[in-house]
Amino acid sequence: MEVPDPKMNQQARRGKVFLVGAGPGDPDLLTVKAARVLGHCDVVLYDRLVSAEILRLVRPAAELIYVGKHEGEQDRVQPRIFDLLLRHALAGKMVVRLKGGDPLVFGRGAEEWALAREHGIDVELVPGVTSAVSAPGIAGIPLTHREISQSFAVITGHCKEGLAQNWADYARIDTLVILMGVKNRAYIAQSLINAGRAADEPAAFIERATSERQRVVITTLGEIARGRVAAENPAVLVIGNVVRVRERLVGTMETVQVI
Ligand SMILES: C[S@@+](CC[C@H](N)C(=O)[O-])C[C@H]1O[C@@H](n2cnc3c(N)ncnc32)[C@H](O)[C@@H]1O
Repeated sequence: MEVPDPKMNQQARRGKVFLVGAGPGDPDLLTVKAARVLGHCDVVLYDRLVSAEILRLVRPAAELIYVGKHEGEQDRVQPRIFDLLLRHALAGKMVVRLKGGDPLVFGRGAEEWALAREHGIDVELVPGVTSAVSAPGIAGIPLTHREISQSFAVITGHCKEGLAQNWADYARIDTLVILMGVKNRAYIAQSLINAGRAADEPAAFIERATSERQRVVITTLGEIARGRVAAENPAVLVIGNVVRVRERLVGTMETVQVI
């Protein structure tokens, strides 16, 4: 890792952007490299799902800038992020763009990376533990299993306007992992049933994974489609027979919840 020397005159050194994954929330799941970068940087632009414990690892003299987005705020906040990223890096600062999970999994990390490169700014990626894999794993739900699942796909439940999902593409994948799917869960489940998935296929929501308030809801695709499953953000939705493995690994299928 090439870390700019903080003692060097800021005008004399070139800025750099580190695109850093903060993992699913538990600070112990941050990579060693991410912690090192946070301890050396000048500016941190951080997202909504980055935990307070992780922010405590930031060098005390560094500037912390919150750039989290709530639903519907993308178009307003993203240009501000681009602007801050460029402004601080071009001023010679070591900028950390800190994102939940992995920066390149539904995190717009590639867009920020490309923009920085277009302005001649060096970018280094520090991958993070994505919630797509870690949330199910921590709940005792493996995405692959030799006897049950040979494939998995990670998909968004919330597409950019104008881009429609082709649900039929996902009908035959053994395990589906859906991020940002809480709000549209009934529509998503019904679309998957219409595309050929079985209504009695097991499904699980893992809410606030790796935090003290983690909650696992075990249900079926049909129940979700009927609007009978309550779930709260942030949550990962897993659909597939691997959900049944939880009973063998964790000893329970608890929180089977119907509203
Ligand atoms: C904009 S996406 C970012 C994903 C992130 N880059 C990653 O790799 O995990 C946000 C979605 O990730 C999922 N998510 C992130 N952190 C989570 C957590 N701790 N528990 C459950 N779901 C989480 C939720 O589906 C949430 O709506």
